[in-house]
Amino acid sequence: MAFVLLSRGLSLASMARVGLCLALASASPALCGETASPPTQDARPSVASGETGLSPVELLGKKVFEDARLSEPPGVSCASCHDGAKAFQGNNGSPVAALAQGSRPGVLGARNTPSLSYVSFGPPFGFTQKTDEETGKVELVPVGGQFLDGRADDLVAQVEGPLLNPREMNNPSKAAVVAKIEAGDYAGLARRVYGDDVFTDANAAFEKLARAVAAFESTPRFHPFASKFDAFLRGREKLTKQEAHGFELFKDKKKGNCIACHVGKEDSNSPEDWLFTDFSYDALGAPRSRDIPDNKEASYVDLGLCKREGLAKIAPKGVEIDSLCGQFKAPTLRNIAITGPYLHNGVFSRLRDVVAFYATRDTNPERWYPKRDGKTAKYDDLPKEFHDNVNTKEVPYDRKPGQKPRLNDEEIDAIVAFLQTLTDRPASTERGEK
Ligand code: HEC
Ligand code: HEC
Repeated sequence: MAFVLLSRGLSLASMARVGLCLALASASPALCGETASPPTQDARPSVASGETGLSPVELLGKKVFEDARLSEPPGVSCASCHDGAKAFQGNNGSPVAALAQGSRPGVLGARNTPSLSYVSFGPPFGFTQKTDEETGKVELVPVGGQFLDGRADDLVAQVEGPLLNPREMNNPSKAAVVAKIEAGDYAGLARRVYGDDVFTDANAAFEKLARAVAAFESTPRFHPFASKFDAFLRGREKLTKQEAHGFELFKDKKKGNCIACHVGKEDSNSPEDWLFTDFSYDALGAPRSRDIPDNKEASYVDLGLCKREGLAKIAPKGVEIDSLCGQFKAPTLRNIAITGPYLHNGVFSRLRDVVAFYATRDTNPERWYPKRDGKTAKYDDLPKEFHDNVNTKEVPYDRKPGQKPRLNDEEIDAIVAFLQTLTDRPASTERGEK
């Protein structure tokens, strides 16, 4: 669902960064460091994978993030699925590209791994006001949170998810994770950062270590703003004719209208105003993926946001939980060219297919969905009762079979060319060693 006020998502984003810093500051004011000040326009990691430039708490977070002893059996770290060389995305060598393999061989997850680039800009999970462009009615819509269904409020809360998930790192308890860290070679660093008694209480220790991971995920190496597009914003590089055309189509409310959800502030040349998401949720009606083992069970469906634990309790009055079935979080499009497969179920392996799907889902549904009883089974990854949740009103979706798609082949290619300018380049390339 797109917000009318483009600035809303962005101001939320900066609030989230401040909020995280406050959370960190309450634990240890001196350690807030880099997360406190927004990165300057030119902020770039000098050594993207090394240890220089990190504060002690961020370095501690890095150690945890890359510690392959923290799985059961050992061998899998956060970095196994969130590889710094691939914009913090990956699948740990899984036989199914879209589904990461956990610490037990052959045990796969059921959702595509998101890139963690620019992840710290996401606001905590909550509801925000949105004005319906047509009716002018104000409603409350969900926004933010971590995971594709926002089930972790923020980065700190997210950390226990993979560590305890039997399909990922498979630890029996937080205490088991803390014990491994206490026995490891960076326990001294943890004591220096959080005090000698850091390991006394396992739950408190886990929370602190989670904060360190969140601090690491909030460092500029996760958001270097070092793409060709950033250089273009800074006036240092030109887009090719095709890329510039793609950018126009991306913004054009009658063509791609991508910017409605993958937002950027059109009057700003500051890379931070171009995160390419407003952290809102929407139902795209993605085709069902045959690659997901869970999907062999016809009754298995991933309903996304409406199944978020505890949602009914925190949802404001008037929000119908069922109307959120099929919705997933809008991801950033930064680094999109190198973070396939795409969509929450990884059903598309090629970026061009995603863009073509937006353009022709409703004009040529037979191209995307299987036939059942002679009819095209639209939105086949959602039970019928939730088909009305799929967004069919906003451009580029607002088409019917027989109508002309909002984007033709040449325009789809141009948008793809533009999306390819969003890939962060290594620091050496940025210095002109191309
Ligand atoms: C086995 C692969 C795997 C491992 C190991 C793993 N992740 Fe993930 N990560 C995923 C998948 C898959 C998702 C999406 C899951 C979902 O939405 O339900 C995800 C989602 C996330 C998100 C949310 C991103 C967003 O945009 O909402 C964050 C943050 C994250 N992981 C951080 C971590 C950290 C920190 C660790 C280590 C403690 C870790 N991951 C370990 C596969 C993995
Ligand atoms: C109404 C909101 C909305 C609009 C408009 C929109 N998107 Fe999206 N986009 C989303 C959401 C939500 C997802 C995640 C859906 C999912 O995982 O099921 C997404 C996912 C994507 C992905 C896959 C991201 C990934 O990491 O897997 C790409 C690529 C993408 N959009 C490109 C575009 C382009 C290009 C346009 C314009 C032609 C566009 N989007 C228009 C909301 C929107």
